[in-house]
Amino acid sequence: MCLATYGTVAGCRLYQPAERAAPPTLPGQTTDVFTTARPTFAAALNDFLGRLPEGEQPIEFPHNIHVGNNIACSTCHEGVETGPVAGLPSVRTCMICHEAIATDRPRIQQITAMRDKGLDLNWVRVYGYVREAHVKFNHAPHIRAKVECATCHGNIGAQTIAQRNVDLNMGFCVTCHRENKAPTDCLTCHF
Ligand code: HEC
Ligand code: HEC
Ligand code: HEC
Ligand code: HEC
Ligand code: HEC
Repeated sequence: MCLATYGTVAGCRLYQPAERAAPPTLPGQTTDVFTTARPTFAAALNDFLGRLPEGEQPIEFPHNIHVGNNIACSTCHEGVETGPVAGLPSVRTCMICHEAIATDRPRIQQITAMRDKGLDLNWVRVYGYVREAHVKFNHAPHIRAKVECATCHGNIGAQTIAQRNVDLNMGFCVTCHRENKAPTDCLTCHF
């Protein structure tokens, strides 16, 4: 949905990239908000709190090893400095390095086999809002303003798969916006 009252056509395009109009629907997650029927209590609680459910990643990706090897976040999260969406890497991004690096390890052989079969890694989202929360976010202005990734995502470099250990609630966003004289009108963050 792109409300006519919200900004320009370009603004709508910026915040609503076609390939990520909504977080993918995950197993156990429905898109219908107005029903009390949920497969599990946890799913109902997640919906109530507007959180994405937790799920198992296709492989246990080690952030610690990569960040420890001084690989920049933007190598894999390519859009983070330039646009609204950081993005999650496809198996082709992995293979830029792993065609040659650590080819004898089981997890690398697993992703190589997936690439050879034309399969991709369907990462399960960790951060992000359910569509019904009507929140829009944009990475680029934060990176330009030198807000650290860790402020909003914790110390990912010490983790294997990413853990959601920062609560990105409205108070968290608005407090910093007030302190930094960043915009605080509702349509800055809502659609
Ligand atoms: C910029 C290069 C680069 C990219 C891109 C990259 N890796 Fe790595 N990866 C490395 C390096 C360097 C190591 C450490 C290798 C070592 O320990 O000898 C590593 C190690 C690993 C390991 C640990 C291997 C083991 O069991 O010891 C896994 C698993 C892995 N990478 C998965 C991935 C996946 C999945 C992707 C894509 C999402 C990816 N890597 C993208 C460079 C990269
Ligand atoms: C001001 C807070 C903030 C900062 C700083 C920030 N992020 Fe995010 N990040 C978010 C929010 C909020 C989301 C969920 C956005 C959504 O779902 O629309 C997110 C989502 C992501 C995602 C999931 C994929 C996506 O594009 O939605 C990745 C990956 C990510 N961030 C990486 C990074 C990296 C790397 C940095 C530092 C270079 C960073 N973030 C800095 C708040 C932040
Ligand atoms: C070599 C590739 C690679 C590098 C470098 C990397 N990441 Fe990731 N990142 C991934 C992959 C793959 C995932 C999906 C699996 C997961 O959630 O852990 C991911 C997931 C994330 C997520 C969760 C996104 C979501 O909402 O699902 C955040 C946040 C994130 N990374 C932040 C960072 C930050 C901050 C850095 C730099 C300190 C960084 N990443 C460096 C590959 C990478
Ligand atoms: C640690 C401080 C900090 C936090 C936390 C933070 N922001 Fe921001 N944000 C800023 C700053 C500073 C700017 C303004 C950068 C500029 O002037 O270009 C900004 C800009 C923005 C913009 C672009 C505004 C515009 O029109 O130029 C959006 C959208 C936004 N933030 C949403 C959010 C949301 C949603 C959250 C919570 C998930 C959040 N921010 C958390 C500091 C923060
Ligand atoms: C700087 C960003 C930002 C601004 C400005 C902002 N919001 Fe929010 N708001 C959020 C985020 C992020 C959430 C989602 C919180 C979550 O899901 O945990 C949210 C959630 C909400 C909710 C759902 C209830 C809740 O608290 O989770 C309402 C209602 C709401 N906002 C109304 C408003 C109104 C009205 C304004 C203007 C006075 C406003 N917001 C301005 C970021 C913002």
